[in-house]
Amino acid sequence: MSKTILITGSTDGIGLEAAKLLAADGHHMILHGRNPAKLEAAQTTVGEHTEGATTPLGYTVDLSNLDDVKSWADELADNHPAMDVVINNAGVFQTPNTQTSDGLDVRFAVNTIAPYLITRRLAPILGPGGRVVNLSSAAQAPVDLEAMVRYTGLDNMAAYAQSKLALTMWSMELGLASDDAGPVVVAVNPGSLLATKMVREGFGVAGSDIGIGADIIARAAVGDDFEQSSGRYFDNDAGAFAPPHPDAEDATKRRAVIDAIEALLS
Ligand SMILES: NC(=O)c1ccc[n+]([C@@H]2O[C@H](COP(=O)([O-])OP(=O)(O)OC[C@H]3O[C@@H](n4cnc5c(N)ncnc54)[C@H](OP(=O)(O)O)[C@@H]3O)[C@@H](O)[C@H]2O)c1
Repeated sequence: MSKTILITGSTDGIGLEAAKLLAADGHHMILHGRNPAKLEAAQTTVGEHTEGATTPLGYTVDLSNLDDVKSWADELADNHPAMDVVINNAGVFQTPNTQTSDGLDVRFAVNTIAPYLITRRLAPILGPGGRVVNLSSAAQAPVDLEAMVRYTGLDNMAAYAQSKLALTMWSMELGLASDDAGPVVVAVNPGSLLATKMVREGFGVAGSDIGIGADIIARAAVGDDFEQSSGRYFDNDAGAFAPPHPDAEDATKRRAVIDAIEALLS
């Protein structure tokens, strides 16, 4: 059955590849990027993979600006009374300016808090049978709650690994709390050092087959084997559901991450 799927950060890398796969599989894609020209190019490319060559809808929003993210999430909920899947794929590791206009570390803003806002706002239109797929990583480090809500100048790896564990923690917490009326919420490490811009620029290596990441994201979005995955973590380096960082298995720590995000957003 054809599903309506929003995928953030679908102008490049794993997001763009996954969007092409899902479009070719007959799903209705809603694309997102921060750069209008790249978004237009992605819409054309994904359109070429769509039956009937129809151009998918696209939205331009910089996820490092949380007010813009809030407005966009409202706009999405207004424009799409029903949606089946949200893939929170957009992410950042290294960038020249690591502090946002809100005084946050850009990794926490884009990788942790923006997807939280999008998920909370869109969960009601996803409803039962819906899914939220959150792009986690093998890089996970204990979250400094202060650094999550206020820029402290963490180095790239510390900020990225903390932002990904924080994302995994709220994903598990919301996923475990999601009952029959709510969507499945799952965190997925797509595989390490896949051949994308993030890996080329951040780690100086070419990386391995990007299809490994796109395939697992598409599977998590629509595959039957992810139907019962709410609150779980899939590690594609292991090719299986696996334990995340131990902090993500601690309900008190998971709750503390959510409380800190909610306090920041209130
Ligand atoms: N590649 C890997 O080996 C790997 C491993 C583990 C996890 N991941 C995760 O997989 C996801 C995709 O990463 P990738 O490797 O495909 O990286 P990528 O090629 O750099 O793509 C990242 C996407 O996110 C978008 N993005 C970045 N900052 C944004 C912002 N402020 N606002 C809106 N969109 C923004 C990018 O837009 P632009 O096109 O404008 O840059 C791009 O579309 C990320 O969450 C990453 O952390 C990747």
